[in-house]
Amino acid sequence: MAQGEIIAGFLAPHPPHLVYGENPPQNEPRSQGGWEPLRWAYERARASLDEMKPDVLLVHSPHWITSVGHHFLGVRQLSGKSVDPIFPNLFRYDFSLEVDVELAEACCEEGRKAGLVTKMMRNPNFRVDYGTITTLHMIRPQWDIPVVGISANNTPYYLNTKEGLVEMDLLGKATREALRKTGRRAVLLASNTLSHWHFHEEPAIPEDMSKEHPQNLAGYQWDMRMIELMRKGRMREVFKLLPQFIEESFAEVKSGAFTWMHSAMNYPELAGELYGYGTVIGTGNAVMEWNLRKAGQSLLGGGSSTASGSAYDGHRASLVD
Ligand SMILES: [Fe+2]
Repeated sequence: MAQGEIIAGFLAPHPPHLVYGENPPQNEPRSQGGWEPLRWAYERARASLDEMKPDVLLVHSPHWITSVGHHFLGVRQLSGKSVDPIFPNLFRYDFSLEVDVELAEACCEEGRKAGLVTKMMRNPNFRVDYGTITTLHMIRPQWDIPVVGISANNTPYYLNTKEGLVEMDLLGKATREALRKTGRRAVLLASNTLSHWHFHEEPAIPEDMSKEHPQNLAGYQWDMRMIELMRKGRMREVFKLLPQFIEESFAEVKSGAFTWMHSAMNYPELAGELYGYGTVIGTGNAVMEWNLRKAGQSLLGGGSSTASGSAYDGHRASLVD
């Protein structure tokens, strides 16, 4: 069996506007473009991913919400039409994807062993959420790499941020262990926007970029502060500030994908490559990559790969308020 590897992790936000602006054949609505700097950022991320040749893409999406536990797509072939319930005028996308069920089952099992409630999603007619689809389309529009889709349990919202993120830390460790045991070479995708204050009215022409800007100053300044730390590889500080960032900028990273991804990567103090930043209906979106292979930190060695440098120190009980 090949040695497991986490080649890289991407911060890969999912505003459906990016798919709408691109006009791929799978999406029904047509646009005149829009949000180009963010779409060009994804073009650079696509080129980087293309060189990695991973076996599988794992994506955690805030818009597949499961009230009980963390769920994993568990049907080998899924197809259908994914619609954004907030922006059905922009996103009605015919998807067809292949799931790495064996890896998904391993993630599910390792999560259970870590003390999480986990479940496989076996409905063959399941309509995959627009967050998962948008992130996957934007990073790999060819749809030729199997995926593992992971739901958002939303514990950060039902309970509190700290307890929810500790669950995501455990989910990340479980994912890492599953990759080690299955020998997959993987790329992780955190489907998250940064600051999430947004406008409540859409322009008459949604792609009218003269109307696009940060919804408020505080959100923008928080995004810049966090991105600057990430660009410098000061990830410990990022995670220390994360609860305050979430609180003060309504950041979507609250839903956990960002923490899950960095936990799975063992919280590397590694500079992220910023491909671009832009707003979508006022929210802050960054496309960034942490390349563990280039840093010589990608291979998952023998024995348990449980992270030792966790920002949460792995002590769940002591972190719960
Ligand atoms: Fe979202």
